[in-house]
Amino acid sequence: MFFRFLVLLLPAATLAAQHSDTALKNPFQSPDDRARGGAFFRSQCASCHGVDGKGGASGPSLASGSFRHASNDEGLFRVITKGVAGTSMPGFSMNGREIWQIVGFIRGLSAGRAGAAKGNAAAGEQLFAANKCTNCHWLNGGGAPRGLDLSAIGTRLSAVELAQALVDPSAEVAPEYWMWTATVKNGQKLRGSRLNEDTFSLQILDSTGKLRSVLKADLQEQTLERRSAMPSFKDKLTAQQVDDVVAYLATLQGAAK
Ligand code: HEC
Ligand code: HEC
Repeated sequence: MFFRFLVLLLPAATLAAQHSDTALKNPFQSPDDRARGGAFFRSQCASCHGVDGKGGASGPSLASGSFRHASNDEGLFRVITKGVAGTSMPGFSMNGREIWQIVGFIRGLSAGRAGAAKGNAAAGEQLFAANKCTNCHWLNGGGAPRGLDLSAIGTRLSAVELAQALVDPSAEVAPEYWMWTATVKNGQKLRGSRLNEDTFSLQILDSTGKLRSVLKADLQEQTLERRSAMPSFKDKLTAQQVDDVVAYLATLQGAAK
């Protein structure tokens, strides 16, 4: 099982629940906060609670909107920082902001399940065309042939994850899409995604969409950056437009190629 605990940055107690009559409200609730919470969740919690929070090998579902150990956001904050004594649920020493972002993400899981796609899918379809998403993506038989297929993306990602893919694409990138750059011994520069690797060679999808095999012995240097080749649409789309594109993507339920 692979997960790592984030280093303690700020004592969580500085932001943690105080005992007062009014429950603390989550101060970090923007779509961006929820997206970050989702990224933390996938790296810290998914091993037990499942990637989508719907329950996994050794942790219960957190997607129903009601919790045995918490009745509000402050209670969730407490469970995550203190853990549940006598069970395998550990306490996490992340900073308060990160914990609140995770709380927001968990809340979003049940909001999404209620099926309330806020945006307008028809407007989203137009934005999808206007922003030339199929320059890099494959959709229902058209677009970039080797691009990541979005035909059934609505069955794979939740609304929160779709929004994250648009505003913060580098938060969660599968290793085969990490940006790979290299210089070959003859001085030629190569760039693309490293699809595969064996003892002697690398299989690269270069930036023009061509597959090529590169011998490791021919490489002078190579770097692999953990970021997406997809540009962030954070400054190109308004929050409403992001919701619209998400609503459109959620309708894509077709068969992937
Ligand atoms: C090693 C496995 C494990 C990891 C990692 C883990 N959990 Fe848990 N979690 C559990 C188990 C088991 C329970 C159920 C405890 C019980 O029996 O009540 C639980 C319970 C919870 C609950 C309370 C659920 C309820 O119904 O009250 C919350 C909230 C929660 N976990 C959030 C998280 C978050 C957020 C993370 C990551 C930061 C995380 N957990 C990481 C195993 C884990
Ligand atoms: C310059 C190329 C490029 C453009 C333009 C682009 N994408 Fe992407 N997109 C990628 C790459 C590469 C990935 C895979 C890496 C990642 O997860 O970020 C990706 C990933 C995604 C994902 C996540 C898929 C998954 O399985 O996790 C979604 C959703 C997505 N893109 C939607 C869009 C939409 C909608 C647009 C247009 C508004 C768009 N993309 C424009 C290159 C691009």
